[in-house]
Order: sequence, then structure tokens, then C-alpha cells
Amino acid sequence: MTRFLRNVWYMAGWSGELTDGLLTRRIAGRARVFFRLADGTVAALHDRCPHRFAPLSRGERAGDALVCPYHGLTFDAGGQCIRNPFSERIPAGAQVDSWACAERDGIIWMWGGNADTADPAEIPDFSRLADQPGRKVLRGHTLVRAPYEFCTDNLMDLSHIEFVHRGTFAGDGVIFAGQHRVIDDGATLHSNWWMPGVPAPLPTRPPFAEGQLTDHWLDMRWNAPASMELDIGATLPGRPREEGFRVGGQAHIVTPESTTTAHYFTANARHEAVDDPAVDAFLTELFDQAFNAEDKPIIEAAFANLEGQDFWEGRPLSLGIDQGGTRARRKIQAMLAAEDRNG
Ligand code: FES
Ligand SMILES: [Fe+2]
Repeated sequence: MTRFLRNVWYMAGWSGELTDGLLTRRIAGRARVFFRLADGTVAALHDRCPHRFAPLSRGERAGDALVCPYHGLTFDAGGQCIRNPFSERIPAGAQVDSWACAERDGIIWMWGGNADTADPAEIPDFSRLADQPGRKVLRGHTLVRAPYEFCTDNLMDLSHIEFVHRGTFAGDGVIFAGQHRVIDDGATLHSNWWMPGVPAPLPTRPPFAEGQLTDHWLDMRWNAPASMELDIGATLPGRPREEGFRVGGQAHIVTPESTTTAHYFTANARHEAVDDPAVDAFLTELFDQAFNAEDKPIIEAAFANLEGQDFWEGRPLSLGIDQGGTRARRKIQAMLAAEDRNG
């Protein structure tokens, strides 16, 4: 059974999803409501009034506070009730949980633990996916009906490309010519593929011509709970990476919604044809096909196939190529154990 980490930064959404309204999102089994304060920073409250449990998100803003739609209790951005329409007195316990938020690289992050332990320096770097002149970023969000670790397994083991992505990214078996390495760097895991002497993969054409032999890499970086960045590139055989072509960048960030569902956020950055809507349309379609029509159904079907058994109870076979996902699961287990010990 999935348990949720508390002391991690969860991606709550894209910055562009939250303007002057309210963003509701269930994260790690709890309904949360996000809103921007007058100074532009983001606040997060439990989306449940402590009186008769109405969703605060159905209420109204009152400056930097939210008014419950049911009987009008008003809560500030820290979750404290600041107005009771029926009395001067604010009852004890008239409070909702709140969480620290930070915004970076066009992403809203929420710290799952106590606000006083939140350190924005621990937010993984997605600056390659931030908006900036000369760069176009296409962003998406979908809900996967499987625990978030199943998405991590999928992303940390890209050998599935040749089977699952026949309609999009499959590369005529080049991944089988590759060397796979998992590097454990403390809080960060890397699941790296290195494919020397293979035909230039699609995202690197141009600059490379179709059929041109290259050394090609696919490097996935992971941080808990499931924030991943994919680095894709190719260089002429034997030449250093810096001389080759590195694709703009890809984010794959997964946030548990519940024990059996996950938010899957994706972003793709490019520095070519940034003002070309035809390229936007082509890539949007490509990613929709790859992530929604190819990855999602197989992840969901695999989870459903466990018929309620826990992942480890199902006694998963190990092939070696899957050790990135396995290490990520082990790290999360160790972090949960540490939270049990230390609170
Ligand atoms: S349910 Fe919110 S004030 Fe009654
Ligand atoms: Fe995939």
C-alpha cells in the first residue's frame, strides 16, 4: 500500500495554471486549494472547512483569505480562521492545514511537511524547462490510474521505448545497442543510456541527417518523490558531447494524487522554430500519442493486473535494466522509514 512522503517538494501544477483564481488539486491523498496572494506568492490550504467540511475552493476570495461557501468562516493564507460571521469569537480549532509553496522554473511546488522545515534549495533544477526568450516550452498534465511509483518505473527504464512507443519514439532497436548505468548520487538518481554508433535519433535531426551515425544519450535524472528530467542528445561518433546536439529538455514530474492515482506533468523545451505553430501542433500530437496513448494504458493495465496486491507482493522479476525504478522505490522506502523515526 502506498504511503506518502511528507518531507519532499511535490509539484502542484504549472505556474500558468494559477492566475487570480483558485487551483484545486488532490495531492498525496488530500484535497488542496492553491491561490495567489497579493504579493504574487502562492498559498496552499486543506480544501476542507473544519466546520461542516465544505470545500473552501467553492467559496470566495476576500483579499488574501478564503471565505467558506457554506456558513462563511474566513481563513487566512496560513489556515487560521480570521472571521466568524456569527460571533466576535473565533472558536478554538477553527483552523485548516496549510503548506509552504515555492515557485521556480514555471512550476508551483508544495512542501508536504511542516512549513518550518521547507527548504526551497532542495527543489530539483528544471531551469531548462523555464520560459525564456528563444525557447518554446510545451506543457501537459494527465491523470494516471496507478500509484506514482509505477510511472517512475516506466521513466527510469526507457527500454520500454522499443515496445510501447512503436508509434512514436521507437528507434529500430538502438536502445539494445546501448549501455545502461544507474548512478546513485545521494538524493539524486541517474538512469543513463549510452548508445554509441547508432543512426541519429529523430529529435536530433536536424542538425544530423537521417542515417548519420552518432553516439546517442538518454539520461534520466530522478529526485523524490518522482521529479524527473530527461536529457536527450547525440554527437558524432567518438566526439565529446559538448560538440554534439542536446535537445532542449524534457520534464517528467509525477505527483501522487491518491494511493492509486498520479498526476503526470510533462514539459518539452526547444530552441528551434520557436514561433512555428505547425511545430507546436506536431509535437503536441506526438507527446499526446506517446504519453497518453502509449505509456498510460500499459502502466494502468500493469497496475490493474496486480489485482490489489502490493508491488513487492507480486514478486516482480528483475531484468537489471529496471534497477533505476527499483532504486527509486528503495530510496522512498528509506525516506519513509526515516520520517517514521524522526517525525
Ligand atoms: S462548513 Fe465552512 S463555515 Fe460551515
Ligand atoms: Fe514511455
